[in-house]
Amino acid sequence: MSTRLEIVLLLSILLPLCLSRPPDPLGWLFHRHRQEQYFGSLHADTRGGTCPDECDCPPSFPIAMYCDGRGLTAMPSIPSRIKYLYLQNNAITSLPDSALVNATNLVWLLLHHNQLTSDAIDQKVFLKTDGLERLYLQHNNLTSIPPNLPRSLRDLRVNHNMIEKVTPAELDGMDNLTILHLQDNAITDMTTSLKTLKSLTLLDISGNKLTKVPDALPEQLHQFYLESNSINSLPVGFLGGLAQLQYVRMAHNQLTDKGIPPNTFNVTGLVELDLSYNKLERIPSVSTTLQHLYLQANQIKEFTLGSFCAIVDVTNFSKLRTLRLEGNELSMQDIPSESALCLRQAFSIQI
Ligand SMILES: *[C@@H]1O[C@H](CO)[C@@H](O)[C@H](O)[C@H]1NC(C)=O
Ligand SMILES: *[C@@H]1O[C@H](CO)[C@@H](O)[C@H](O)[C@H]1NC(C)=O
Ligand SMILES: *[C@@H]1O[C@H](CO)[C@@H](O)[C@H](O)[C@H]1NC(C)=O
Ligand SMILES: *[C@@H]1O[C@H](CO)[C@@H](O)[C@H](O)[C@H]1NC(C)=O
Ligand SMILES: *[C@@H]1O[C@H](CO)[C@@H](O)[C@H](O)[C@H]1NC(C)=O
Repeated sequence: MSTRLEIVLLLSILLPLCLSRPPDPLGWLFHRHRQEQYFGSLHADTRGGTCPDECDCPPSFPIAMYCDGRGLTAMPSIPSRIKYLYLQNNAITSLPDSALVNATNLVWLLLHHNQLTSDAIDQKVFLKTDGLERLYLQHNNLTSIPPNLPRSLRDLRVNHNMIEKVTPAELDGMDNLTILHLQDNAITDMTTSLKTLKSLTLLDISGNKLTKVPDALPEQLHQFYLESNSINSLPVGFLGGLAQLQYVRMAHNQLTDKGIPPNTFNVTGLVELDLSYNKLERIPSVSTTLQHLYLQANQIKEFTLGSFCAIVDVTNFSKLRTLRLEGNELSMQDIPSESALCLRQAFSIQI
């Protein structure tokens, strides 16, 4: 046995003795198989109901229930003490109103990679889970976001489904929602204001069928992913007032110069902007704080230094570190010599 494996084994025996409960349930998931060997004989916790046969409830971490990858086609019964529920990688087809009646303490509900359809999720199933923070429903067969989701959610993942539309009522009042994954669906319409999502920092709506961007974006937004849609134009002041915004990815859309109002991307604070695989003929103006700019595979014909530095002198220079321009109609000769001063921070420029 290698020394490394010995240490891992030793840790997996000692750690549960030192900690009253593991700090991260996912870390626990990783170690649990070995722990069961040593703790399997301890008395099971039956507070709030017994663990169903088809699942595991580790005696030393009795608020977690593991039912992932068991070939389940229906929801198991859930003891009320359970906070962390793992049901991913099954073939569960429905969430009837009764499914979560006893699960009043749920904090995490992981149901990704199942066979859930929107018709088979009852209206009141989430009525009693008012402390639910993390809901994973990605890789199912949903055609809409389930109705009446708990307003306590912080992390909602419904990516890789067949959702066509997002309506304001579905997300309204989710004041604590921080992460929203909607990518790889069939959303055509998102002209709903997302401004009410006061805490949202990550919005991923890439891989949909959007022709327009959402009407108003949440003020705390930090990462905004929109790539692989069919967007050809952006409204004036689209990214204005988003003081926390650092990452914007809009690759693989239909953006043209005409569709981008002046100064759209001249937003202080932006770190990364990906506009590759669009139809731009000019380099749009960007803020001098930008560090990574991806413009490859457009139709850019001229290198406008003014896009990076309105004034070029020793104190005015761009923070740009990466600039990708390959797959355009430019050559090295098109880069003016003053660029050396303006782009002095760059370590990678690809033409
Ligand atoms: C809920 O708890 C009650 C009482 O313990 C039990 O009879 C019922 O079967 C449980 N229902 C579910 C869906 O777990
Ligand atoms: C879910 O979608 C997959 C792939 O399209 C399909 O094979 C499966 O039958 C669907 N399941 C249900 C319950 O509709
Ligand atoms: C949001 O989080 C705060 C702080 O953790 C909590 O007090 C509040 O009840 C939560 N809001 C909702 C709607 O659950
Ligand atoms: C970007 O905006 C600043 C003020 O916010 C302005 O001074 C600067 O000229 C703008 N840059 C370009 C290239 O238009
Ligand atoms: C940029 O250039 C202007 C005009 O020459 C000057 O007033 C300003 O202080 C310079 N530096 C910065 C960081 O803007």
